[in-house]
Amino acid sequence: MVTAGQNIRLTRVGPGTPAGELFRRYWQPAVLSEEVPEKDCPPVRVRLLGEDLLAFRDSDGVVALTDAHCPHRRAPLYFGRNEERGIRCAYHGWKFNRDGDCVDMPTEPGNDRMKATVKITAYPTVELGGIVWAYMGPPDKKPPPPDYEWLRVPREFIHVSKTYEECNYLQALEGGLDTAHSSYAHNNNMGAKAEPRLLDKSPRLDVNPTDYGYNYVSTRSMGGGDAYIRLYHYVMPFQQMRGGIHEFSGERRKAPALDGHVWAPIDDETTFVYNWHHTYDATTPIDEAHRVKTEVFYGRGPDDMIPGTYKLKKNKANDYMIDRDLQKTKIFTGIVGINTQDFALQEGMGPIVDRSKEHLGSTDRAIIAMRSMLLKAIDAVEAGGAPPGVEPSTHNNIRPYDGFVRAGEDWRAKFDPETKAKW
Ligand code: FES
Ligand SMILES: [Fe+2]
Repeated sequence: MVTAGQNIRLTRVGPGTPAGELFRRYWQPAVLSEEVPEKDCPPVRVRLLGEDLLAFRDSDGVVALTDAHCPHRRAPLYFGRNEERGIRCAYHGWKFNRDGDCVDMPTEPGNDRMKATVKITAYPTVELGGIVWAYMGPPDKKPPPPDYEWLRVPREFIHVSKTYEECNYLQALEGGLDTAHSSYAHNNNMGAKAEPRLLDKSPRLDVNPTDYGYNYVSTRSMGGGDAYIRLYHYVMPFQQMRGGIHEFSGERRKAPALDGHVWAPIDDETTFVYNWHHTYDATTPIDEAHRVKTEVFYGRGPDDMIPGTYKLKKNKANDYMIDRDLQKTKIFTGIVGINTQDFALQEGMGPIVDRSKEHLGSTDRAIIAMRSMLLKAIDAVEAGGAPPGVEPSTHNNIRPYDGFVRAGEDWRAKFDPETKAKW
């Protein structure tokens, strides 16, 4: 059970907070590469772990992530010019490079000493999997860049996107680790004969701690001793990897795929969900139609977004456009869009849910394990120790899977070759 005090420790992400300091020891998604598409393109505002920042791709093609404000008189660098390896403040022309050094101070000609002492915060970045990752922790503790399998997938075989979610990262992450809700929240065809794999509405959960977090196995009974098994990964601190349903009723899908999310906290009360989806192997590239289809399936298609943003048109302000007739006849939630359904339930808990009022059951086992893992890691970092899962060797060879096992079949033997990285 999480006390009110533990809830605060888990959910506050700003500088100097216990979870915020833990998260700063990992590389985190800051922006999609598509947001800063070319050298010297317009800068973008970034808010990450409660800090206001600016991202711009400089003349070398490297993405800088700096303080949002100019250190002269705090004007927003967002209005600055991204030119010749630096951002030049639009107010009085001071200019900063991607390392945060002041490289020109036209209002103080000849004052090289002042120029040398003025710096802005600048975080190192690395671009992997179509995402710009930032390290915001102590420089001497910087781990090598992350090496999840999906970050090694060539661009033609992976699709990434992001969606803005209006609640604390933890309740969003909990939704991603909660395998039991799909039988209700995502039941989008109530009239149809249920897919046999979803008939068992109380899956058994086994959580197996690992160096990167844990894997967990949900087992749904399909009668006669057969079972539908999903092996997910929870990767510290806020990532989920899941099999994209590899088999339907015992038949292997023609083009299986893998999916997952990273829930990067914008601040205590808002989150960017980074979504990834890649093919099982190099057989079939992902074309534009496949990208759009994937987004539409989850309710994040081009028509679902407020133009020019990563925000959904169906949102809290309009009750996610719930249709009560549809709820009676077809879609259990009355809300169209799988991720939209998740958002309605997660955002509706309030910006930061009061976990001391919950009543957790057996299907919440994975969530309980994740919280205690995070609390333990927070304690470890506070005590001067190292957080788990930052070393690439802990996570570079894992992949999720889901499939059927017949009565008496050993699922571990069946899953073993499938749950090793192939890229
Ligand atoms: S406020 Fe930026 S140069 Fe003066
Ligand atoms: Fe969901």
